[in-house]
Amino acid sequence: MKIQKLTIENRAKVYALLQCAFPRSNYEAELVRKLHANGRPLHEWVCLHSNKVIAYIAFSNAYHGRDICGLHLAPMAVTPEFQKQGVGTELLRFALRQEAIKGQPLFVLGEPNYYRKFGFEPCSQPICPFDINNAHFLSMGNIVATSFVVGYEPEFVPVIAPAAPHGKKHRHGKHS
Ligand SMILES: CC(C)(COP(=O)(O)OP(=O)(O)OC[C@H]1O[C@@H](n2cnc3c(N)ncnc32)[C@H](O)[C@@H]1OP(=O)(O)O)[C@@H](O)C(=O)NCCC(=O)NCCS
Repeated sequence: MKIQKLTIENRAKVYALLQCAFPRSNYEAELVRKLHANGRPLHEWVCLHSNKVIAYIAFSNAYHGRDICGLHLAPMAVTPEFQKQGVGTELLRFALRQEAIKGQPLFVLGEPNYYRKFGFEPCSQPICPFDINNAHFLSMGNIVATSFVVGYEPEFVPVIAPAAPHGKKHRHGKHS
């Protein structure tokens, strides 16, 4: 297995991988497609096995107002045939060692039990706009003491339920 930066040639394989890894949603595949199309700054790596892309990880800017205040880890996925074999662990540990990532405040909206193993801790500040009470929002190297809502690239919009009747809640997208 080889880990390398995502190349333009492998982008379509990543969209296919995200579609397989999140079978009930096309949110993640569309999110990454739009981030690429709009030229957002990303740090992205893939795992290759027999020339197939079997895992993907991305980091994008986190914002405090207009200032960059860290990186969001999202999305991360391993193709179903290779899940629970240590691939995700290897890819995430690799990413956390890279110059562009280490030392930066990192945020992730995901399964706490999974991300805790890598050093992420429950995050009370800043506030994640896509979670309720930051229940699934974790951070690493985060020293924020003030209260603010952390910004994402605009492609990370909540998934809006079509024509919700008055008073009905909107559904939010899942980010990692
Ligand atoms: C979540 C994911 C990236 C993990 O990658 P992976 O290669 O399968 O994970 P690894 O084999 O490295 O690690 C497996 C460990 O993580 C645990 N794990 C996997 N998915 C988990 C989850 N959603 N919640 C909690 N623990 C999880 C396994 O139980 C296992 O624990 P153990 O080592 O104590 O036995 C991958 O399973 C995946 O792509 N899932 C579908 C997409 C997704 O949910 N992505 C977002 C992650 S929040």
